[in-house]
Amino acid sequence: MRRKMAAGNWKMNGTSAQLAEVDTLIAQTGDTGVDILLCPPATLLSRMSMAAEGHALQTGGQDCHPAEKGAHTGDVSAEMLRDAGATHVILGHSERRTDHGETDDLVAAKTVAAWSENLTAVVCIGESEAERDAGTTLDVIGTQLAGSLPNGATGPRLVVAYEPVWAIGTGKVPTLEQIAEVHDFIRSTLIARFGETAGNSIRILYGGSVKPSNAAEIFAVSNVDGALVGGASLKAADFGGIITALSAA
Ligand code: PGA
Repeated sequence: MRRKMAAGNWKMNGTSAQLAEVDTLIAQTGDTGVDILLCPPATLLSRMSMAAEGHALQTGGQDCHPAEKGAHTGDVSAEMLRDAGATHVILGHSERRTDHGETDDLVAAKTVAAWSENLTAVVCIGESEAERDAGTTLDVIGTQLAGSLPNGATGPRLVVAYEPVWAIGTGKVPTLEQIAEVHDFIRSTLIARFGETAGNSIRILYGGSVKPSNAAEIFAVSNVDGALVGGASLKAADFGGIITALSAA
């Protein structure tokens, strides 16, 4: 059985004051039976990890460099994330792919770097609106999976997040049939590549405009093991509502 996961991505949002939301979230969240992950900006990672200590909240980075260390001004290594208390790292988010030209090859190299520090990689994939309209969604997803995932993926090491680019931060959500089609395709691709046991143990999250009001119906879709949440993870009340919907699913 795959344990469900609610993951929050704060993106480039939040200074110290925003950590009050973490205290609220911890205070209002009891034993939910689901994995809860928050990925703040790198500047808040240490403090959030300390605040989360002893609670059922894990923390993660939003990116890491593929190299162990060195002359890479402004970058953060997997070891630094681990040292700051992270257990996970989001890799290949569409905003990284767009803003920083990240390729599938680079995402795969970053995933290897994350694994070398025992971080679970949350690898993001998703089609653009033009690709969806052209009917090439599954081809795009297949190519991204083949290129972004290194050999040796297992449930503890990898989470896949399906995030249609056109649904991120837009309030637009695919139909439940569209989500099911892509998640089922990802599951069968993972099984074909990594084998039955590993392929079935890897969680597949849906991301893109998930809110408390649409969470329950999305979590009822086959092969949806949780969500990667942007905007709604910034408020404890909203993220808490999504966690509640997931633990009831
Ligand atoms: P959103 O972002 O929930 O604000 O649409 C999702 C994401 O980018 O992970």
